[in-house]
Amino acid sequence: MTEPGPSSRSDALVFFGATGDLAHKKVFPALQAMVKRGHLNVPVIGVAKAGWNLERLRARARESLETHGGVDAAAFDKLSSLLRYVDGDYREPATFDLLRRALGAAERPLHYLAIPSSLFSTVVAGLGRSGCARGGRVVAEKPFGHDLASAQALNRSLLAVFPEPAVFRIDHYLGKEPVENLLYFRFSNSVLESIWNCDHVDSVQITMAESFGIAGRGSFYDQTGAIRDVIENHLLQVVACLAMDAPSSGQPETLRDQKARLLQAIAPIDPKNVVRGQFRGYHDEPGVAADSRVETFAAVQLQIDNPRWAGVPFYLRTGKRLAVTCTEVLVAMKGPPRSPFGETLERPNYVRFRLGPDVAIALGVRSKTPGEAMVGREVELLASQGVSDEMDAYERLLGDAMKGDPLLFAREDAVEAEWRIVTPILTSATPPRDYEAGSWGPAEADRLVGGAAGWHKPQAAPARRSS
Ligand code: BG6
Repeated sequence: MTEPGPSSRSDALVFFGATGDLAHKKVFPALQAMVKRGHLNVPVIGVAKAGWNLERLRARARESLETHGGVDAAAFDKLSSLLRYVDGDYREPATFDLLRRALGAAERPLHYLAIPSSLFSTVVAGLGRSGCARGGRVVAEKPFGHDLASAQALNRSLLAVFPEPAVFRIDHYLGKEPVENLLYFRFSNSVLESIWNCDHVDSVQITMAESFGIAGRGSFYDQTGAIRDVIENHLLQVVACLAMDAPSSGQPETLRDQKARLLQAIAPIDPKNVVRGQFRGYHDEPGVAADSRVETFAAVQLQIDNPRWAGVPFYLRTGKRLAVTCTEVLVAMKGPPRSPFGETLERPNYVRFRLGPDVAIALGVRSKTPGEAMVGREVELLASQGVSDEMDAYERLLGDAMKGDPLLFAREDAVEAEWRIVTPILTSATPPRDYEAGSWGPAEADRLVGGAAGWHKPQAAPARRSS
């Protein structure tokens, strides 16, 4: 095994699953953006088993961009000239021989597995046997495995071919600017860090709501469900960013150590602290089993067993076909010991992090309503706000992987900790609760969050102006 040096750039980008859904939605737009920024000027080789040729792949790339973000004529032409295509079965050595030939003089290829994780071991073994892995890196899509045991097995098969510094486990939430800003904002402002603990924080809620359904991904989703699709990865990574201790430096491993430590302190979720739901009509989706019990909604409560967070409940909720599309964190602070003005405060102070599709950081406080009475109202101090128009997460992550920068990738110990947290709730003897499309999920989820305030209901994103 030869390892690329820490700063050597990959000199080819190979993506498996070139004709698939992820490539269509995320990979082609990221590739065009990389070309446009001058960050991609090496052969880009799509691999799939579809009986396609290069022209068909180029047409697919154009169609992808027409649907997702738009075609930039110059960048698209350049991308088309970089594109190559290898068609073949991942189980056939001949496919990898073709790939080796397509790689030509490349010595440090990046192999991106935009395919289901059940195929990772086969592809990685093929890369190893054919010499395509030599000097290269590999990027593995989430969810990494199906449970703890399969994640560990997968890890073994990756490490049999690539050394750990050459393995990049994608959780695209980590590539999102507002998620990275959680760390920056927390650790660069003393005002927040001093109250960021169980003495001052009452509870934390994270809602990742999507108003759309499973969008043609029935056969994937029906094998996965909401807990594996986003709680085990995206939402637990957000918890880690919100709750970890400060790293002693911004060095990737120092930061990843703290993150893993936090995730390891979260107790496996007690099955009585989960509510699952399934939207009405899910069974009619193509690719979904008629008697499927897979959850399209899940709400969980978890606990972090360390001194900083003792007794502070963290509530996580996600679902398809909910009332709005957005991801938002609400950190509710404890109220004042008593109100000298005799007011009953409906909601204590809070910090709100809006992570998408628009972004904001806001502080909820009370201010006096003008007039003779000492009564007030809730106001929000906006610390920052904007539309999330920065580099898309996939562009950022593919670029980082090509540079060999592991900072925004999930490390194996963190991934294993995530699987341990959700292990008790991966199976359930009871069917999920039905909920109406366009609602906030099954009413039973309300029982998880005690107290009068209940779940915080994030607002829909403001309509975006077309440019
Ligand atoms: C993916 C999930 O990882 O994240 C999808 O598989 C989900 O089900 C998506 O819709 C959400 O990502 P984003 O970036 O659109 O919030």
